Amino acid sequence: MPSVLGALTATIGFLSVVGATPVQLEKRKAFSIKQVERTKYIKNGAQQKVKTLRKFGVKVPEQLLAASSTGPNDSLNGSVPAVPVDDYDSLYLTPVELGNTTVQLDFDTGSADLWTFSSLQASSQLTGHDYYRVDPGKKLQGHTWRIQYGDGSGAGGTVYADKVVVGGVTATSQAVEAATSVSSQFTRDRDTDGLLGLSFSSLNTVRPTAQKTFFDTVKENLQAPLFAVTLKFHAAGSYDFGFIDKSKYKGEITYVDVDTSNGWWEFTATGYAVGDGSTTQASISGIGDTGTTLMYLPINVVKAYYAKVTGSTDSSRYGGWVFPCSATLPDFTLVVAGTKQTVPGQHINYAPVQTGGTTCYGGIQEDTGIGFSIFGDVFLKSKYVIHEAGDTPRLGFAEQA
Ligand SMILES: *[C@@H]1O[C@H](CO)[C@@H](O)[C@H](O)[C@H]1NC(C)=O
Ligand SMILES: *[C@@H]1O[C@H](CO)[C@@H](O)[C@H](O)[C@H]1NC(C)=O
Ligand SMILES: *[C@@H]1O[C@H](CO)[C@@H](O)[C@H](O)[C@H]1NC(C)=O
Repeated sequence: MPSVLGALTATIGFLSVVGATPVQLEKRKAFSIKQVERTKYIKNGAQQKVKTLRKFGVKVPEQLLAASSTGPNDSLNGSVPAVPVDDYDSLYLTPVELGNTTVQLDFDTGSADLWTFSSLQASSQLTGHDYYRVDPGKKLQGHTWRIQYGDGSGAGGTVYADKVVVGGVTATSQAVEAATSVSSQFTRDRDTDGLLGLSFSSLNTVRPTAQKTFFDTVKENLQAPLFAVTLKFHAAGSYDFGFIDKSKYKGEITYVDVDTSNGWWEFTATGYAVGDGSTTQASISGIGDTGTTLMYLPINVVKAYYAKVTGSTDSSRYGGWVFPCSATLPDFTLVVAGTKQTVPGQHINYAPVQTGGTTCYGGIQEDTGIGFSIFGDVFLKSKYVIHEAGDTPRLGFAEQA
């Protein structure tokens, strides 16, 4: 048994689970879990970019910070905005049972912590959130976690080995990271009660002993050691654990080997194309990341894309590439393992920069400062994406049915 599980079992040994597998499967060794669509908020593209830079520890430029605090923002109102629904992003939550509570978590293939708002926080921080009720008897003594972002915001707390139920699978002893404090950026963000990380466990922030992700805890007990993500354009998608759902894609699945050395689902694309244009060879290394809304690409690729969008400009006022909302956007294609993986142009119109405005923020932005590209939701949304563990983990891409 791996050392992490050993440690967990030892810690909660008095609960008489010694020798028991930390995983219990109900009936099927595979399950699918449906997402719940969040309330749609008015989204600000620059705010998404700020969030992404923070996530990857990049200092946020002053000008971008300024752009993110002007224009519509998502902290105002939960009502459906008065502009066409297609101009807005949707974020997704998945119900997860932690101990005796159900919270709505953001499944994030770009991080490895299962952290949640908890009863250890001041009640003033819990307004509008579901939260985990900690059981002191399940505390993983001496263990703490802290996620720190480039701008000083962050969250941290203590760790519990508790029951976690996702769909049909119960992990009886999964590390649940209960927040004791979160910075105001998180309390304001009503979208998130917490995250369920699905990157490789090497990125886990629990100290002194890093803990396994939920997927790593359960994968050996699944029918197949994989999960598949279906993020949908303006609709609720699903996560399938342990099986590939043939009804959710069409055509062939293209697999690409994953480089796990940095802990992410990282792979290298070998080229790109804009619209019907010819393919340009380029080595584009990046990570698949369900926890990042947009797609961040090398500056020359981004410029090549927006060269085909009339009226587009890299705007310091709005903190990124914008264009007239009326523009017809070309498709964008990444070449992955010799196949074309295409994002419909429609998906690249992220949102108007102002309510009812005529300028729109692009779903493709520059990856400057991050050090690699990010194939976020804008890329993943049109695809059925298989995340397969194994000696050489791989990602499989197919077109959604
Ligand atoms: C964004 O939200 C904050 C908090 O409600 C508010 O202070 C700020 O004025 C808002 N910005 C705009 C442009 O509405
Ligand atoms: C919230 O949205 C509702 C419905 O659109 C609107 O009537 C109300 O004025 C909004 N409140 C704020 C604070 O924007
Ligand atoms: C849920 O679990 C917590 C921690 O063990 C406990 O304090 C609380 O009473 C439980 N609530 C219910 C409704 O069972």
